[in-house]
Amino acid sequence: MLTLRPLRLDDEAAFRAGHEQMAAEEFPFGFALEPDTPWDDYVRMVAGWPCGVNLREGWVPNTFLVADVDGQLVGRVSIRHELNDFLRDEGGHIGYGVLPGYRRRGYATEILRQALVVARSVGVDRVLITCDDDNAGSIRAIEACGASWTPSARPSLARPRSAATASTKTGARSQPARSCSRSARRTSRRCAPVSASM
Ligand SMILES: CC(C)(COP(=O)(O)OP(=O)(O)OC[C@H]1O[C@@H](n2cnc3c(N)ncnc32)[C@H](O)[C@@H]1OP(=O)(O)O)[C@@H](O)C(=O)NCCC(=O)NCCS
Repeated sequence: MLTLRPLRLDDEAAFRAGHEQMAAEEFPFGFALEPDTPWDDYVRMVAGWPCGVNLREGWVPNTFLVADVDGQLVGRVSIRHELNDFLRDEGGHIGYGVLPGYRRRGYATEILRQALVVARSVGVDRVLITCDDDNAGSIRAIEACGASWTPSARPSLARPRSAATASTKTGARSQPARSCSRSARRTSRRCAPVSASM
């Protein structure tokens, strides 16, 4: 069973190893994680992000969770509580990655599915999800979660990046959103640690 949960003090070795593996693919696994960052400081810093604490300039409040399968750290997800210009154009509400050794087992699809529940819990009714047009795995995971490509940004060879929206309402299939900013209404902010599993 895959569980999304907050980072813990005992995740250091696995998370740092994952961070290095993903760096080789130029994917930022651990945001703001430097080799000399003391781990307890890092865990504390990440725990503040949902509340808007410890954010770097230009960041929005976000929930950062790791994906745990039977005690193994297999990936991570960042759920942004709101969009800024950069996220609206590129990053979207949800960014996720699965470690190379755990791919093609449905984990990205499950991470995304659970991330929609978390997004809902922090007040986002409709999420914007983006991905590169040559990222077949991500495109399929996004589609498997019931997202609809925005009409002007569906996967295409002519475009480097696509955008989709998905409803976070349980059981709802998404409709294309006319405007991402209107779709990303935030009705509340939760500061308690969030986790999800199904
Ligand atoms: C993209 C990524 C998240 C996919 O993770 P994953 O756990 O392997 O994905 P899943 O197992 O849930 O696969 C989803 C679907 O895509 C397919 N798929 C996965 N990787 C694929 C690939 N490289 N090429 C073609 N199809 C692929 C799977 O077969 C599955 O198809 P199905 O639903 O028809 O069975 C992972 O490769 C990754 O972390 N890449 C680097 C970071 C990244 O790109 N993150 C996404 C940013 S938008």
